[in-house]
Amino acid sequence: MVTQEQVGQMVEAAKAAAQNSYSPYSKFRVGAAVLTEDGKIIEGCNVENASYGLANCAERTAVFKAVVDGAHKIIAVVVYTPTATATPPCGACRQVLNEFGPTAHVICVCDSDDKVTTTVDQLLPGAFGPGNLASANS
Ligand code: THU
Repeated sequence: MVTQEQVGQMVEAAKAAAQNSYSPYSKFRVGAAVLTEDGKIIEGCNVENASYGLANCAERTAVFKAVVDGAHKIIAVVVYTPTATATPPCGACRQVLNEFGPTAHVICVCDSDDKVTTTVDQLLPGAFGPGNLASANS
């Protein structure tokens, strides 16, 4: 359950994070914010590298930061891009979000009214997750 007030706070956190985006190669700024089970909002931005393939997306930065904070359950994620259309999480981010929030709300916003409102399980149906490994170890 995520309230509209929490979504508003997450959008502000994601917008602030996008300002710290390190994206000199793509020039594509992304900010994200995740809401943890205990109500904390943790933000992230994309972090690129001269070795292009090592770029880390904003969503994964936020999730990893949440884990450092001790959170293993994500209720919602907001993605913000300063663009005319909303940006959905990439495939790698969908997989990482599935680990900690398989039914999490996903809200993607931008600088127009365009918006994507969905859930992780809708974005990654039939996902591989922790349960698949558990069945091999029993
Ligand atoms: N990017 C994100 O941060 N999140 C996404 O879901 C899509 C892509 C970043 C990665 C890279 O720094 C830039 O956007 C262009 O792909």
